[in-house]
Amino acid sequence: MRGSNVAVVGAGYVGLTTAACLTSLGHRVVCADVGQKKVDMLRRGEATIQEPGIAALIAEGLVSGRLEFVLGARAAVAEAGTVFLCVPTPMSAGGAADLRALEAVVTELRDVLSPGCVVVNKSTVPVGTAVRVGELLDRADVSVVSNPEFLREGSAVYDFLNPNRIVIGAAGHDLAGAERVAGLYEKIDAPVLVTDSASSEMIKYASNCYLATRLSFVNTIAELCEYLDADIDDVTTGMGYDERIGNSFLRPGPGWGGSCLPKDTVALLRTAESVGSEFPVLRAAIDANQRHQELVVDKVRKAVGGDLAGARIGLLGLTFKAGTDDLRDSPALAIAKLLAAEGADLAGYDPSVRGPVAGVTGQVRIVGTAYHAAHGAAAIVVLTEWPEFRALDWPRMAVRLGGRSVIDTRNHLDPLVLDRAGLSYQGIGRPV
Ligand code: UGA
Repeated sequence: MRGSNVAVVGAGYVGLTTAACLTSLGHRVVCADVGQKKVDMLRRGEATIQEPGIAALIAEGLVSGRLEFVLGARAAVAEAGTVFLCVPTPMSAGGAADLRALEAVVTELRDVLSPGCVVVNKSTVPVGTAVRVGELLDRADVSVVSNPEFLREGSAVYDFLNPNRIVIGAAGHDLAGAERVAGLYEKIDAPVLVTDSASSEMIKYASNCYLATRLSFVNTIAELCEYLDADIDDVTTGMGYDERIGNSFLRPGPGWGGSCLPKDTVALLRTAESVGSEFPVLRAAIDANQRHQELVVDKVRKAVGGDLAGARIGLLGLTFKAGTDDLRDSPALAIAKLLAAEGADLAGYDPSVRGPVAGVTGQVRIVGTAYHAAHGAAAIVVLTEWPEFRALDWPRMAVRLGGRSVIDTRNHLDPLVLDRAGLSYQGIGRPV
């Protein structure tokens, strides 16, 4: 297939990755955003997200002339045979996905889409949205398709080009649209699953909610391991050999977070309620995640002698996971807030965070190195698994510290190294 003309509306995380990767597959892509500053940066070849490989793909696309950035959705779609909608669907006050941005774009584009065009929902949207978009468009000559993304931040380019599966849901059983979208991915070697649009939308929510539930399960097993002198790392290794379980996505941590799992779990709960049902397992997974963060705080409190008021604590890692600069719904920040609420004096270091952090301004002093975070601290808490934390000069950290405790919520450090540095190490779900 020769490269197709594609428009991508929204140059956020998903949109920019989609635009850059589709260009690398040989298509001609016009990517639109409403932010003038963002569009200017992208036109200069400056990546607006931190993602391995994205800058090179943008540069190649601009040089080849196959990738273009424009201001506003209408400017992007004139010649497009396929239009990807990649606009934010944040959590509304009630917990359901807020579809205002998506609906606004659909209304804006209704009259300018070319005949025969396929509109593709890539944003995570509640089941039924593709059908709703079709109704809003009200164009018999335009197909609507759901094509959820399964990208992980930090490996989004890799995940786009090497997916486990490509899911395409055709609204109203319109298979021509689904085939057009499948064609865009023909160079990718992955199973393609074509479904109705409701099933496709549900696959996205079910996958993220399953992953979140799995992590809450693992974190709770880790808690039990501490009482029972078992080691969670051995336990998950043993579980992972069972092919029905598999060994990925089983690492204990400070709780799950980020821009997707928290939002999608609450949204699916709301969806269940909206049809008069409930989802006790998912509710429990969300509650367990909250409780798990409180347990981390209990550990820190105990480590500093029972009272956090005035205790200086060094936090290592603030992003929701390593390899990203994303602080949205970061468990590290949730834990920092709980510590601050008890009066702890917090210094935080994260390799990808420089300025003050919204939401914890005045509660966490951002410092420039891990050694600064350790200065005079009664305890260090590792919250994100940045590789550089393993490579720290721990004897030097020990000299800086006021106390001896290191609480490693990611089981990321080598306990032997800390022991040799004279520090008292506590992981998650490891015998103390
Ligand atoms: C998640 C899904 O993994 C992607 O498949 C999905 O496409 C994406 O959401 C989305 O909906 O856009 P992401 O939010 O980038 O991707 O983050 P994950 O790597 O899944 O991590 C989520 C949270 O779980 C993080 O806080 C992470 O630290 C935690 N985690 C992950 C663990 O605590 N243990 C693990 O073994 C894995």
